[in-house]
Amino acid sequence: MAELIDGKAISKQIKDELKEQVAALKQQGKEIGMAVIQVGNDPASSVYVGNKKKACEYIGIRSESYELPEETTQEELLTLIDKLNQDDKIHGILVQLPVPKHIDEDTIIKAISPKKDVDGFHPQSVGALTIGQPGFVSCTPAGIIQLLKRSGVEIEGKECVVIGRSNIVGKPMALLLLRENGTVTITHSRTKNLKEVCKRADILVVAIGRPKMIDASYVKEGAVVIDVGIHRNENNKLCGDVDFDSVEPVASKITPVPGGVGPMTIAMLMHNCVEAATMFGE
Ligand code: GUN
Repeated sequence: MAELIDGKAISKQIKDELKEQVAALKQQGKEIGMAVIQVGNDPASSVYVGNKKKACEYIGIRSESYELPEETTQEELLTLIDKLNQDDKIHGILVQLPVPKHIDEDTIIKAISPKKDVDGFHPQSVGALTIGQPGFVSCTPAGIIQLLKRSGVEIEGKECVVIGRSNIVGKPMALLLLRENGTVTITHSRTKNLKEVCKRADILVVAIGRPKMIDASYVKEGAVVIDVGIHRNENNKLCGDVDFDSVEPVASKITPVPGGVGPMTIAMLMHNCVEAATMFGE
């Protein structure tokens, strides 16, 4: 039977550490500010944005909310980002994705100052991670490293297999595991013999985006399994990319869905915002 990796508890631990750090900064007269921008009113985005604002409040970060109409032009959004880039009271800028189709996502990501890029999506942040220099790291993979470390999973020298190669999860995940001296393989939809490759993994990170695709036949006995997926099944219940009931008896440690990777993303966003203020703030 696998031990559950409790993302809810670990994210709470991180948020409580940050809360203390933010309180200490306040004592020195420093207040941290984050701008949260949403264009349009996609219901899922509204939930995520609401959770981010709640986390700011919990930790003591001042959040400035920009809820812009769907028709907002790219120019208008760029003007707002430029204003926030120059605002000393704002340390982190977050534009919730996706943005409406008439706005180019890459242009928006590049417009955010790398010093305020708390999502870690700017090409400069990605480049810094690639060559092992300091910079903001995409929140979900950064959170997974914290889940592993805080559950006592050693990464150094381990066979790490990542399923998925997205810019937000798969690629930065692989780079972070490499930074921790793991032996890393990235797999994806065109990988041949996916099962055989996955079966080599001591640490298997699954971010494939297909409900319950990974069952026990992909998992080595005793492997640590991290499930990034989140879907609603036919009974409206949440499930991941991993078939939990099948894999749980084989793995040594596993993240549940919900309550595994999910809560870590926001905790690391808060971490990045505190880092933005302490590294680059006035
Ligand atoms: N949309 C879904 N996930 C994310 C995220 O981590 N950051 C932003 N900005 N948008 C998202």
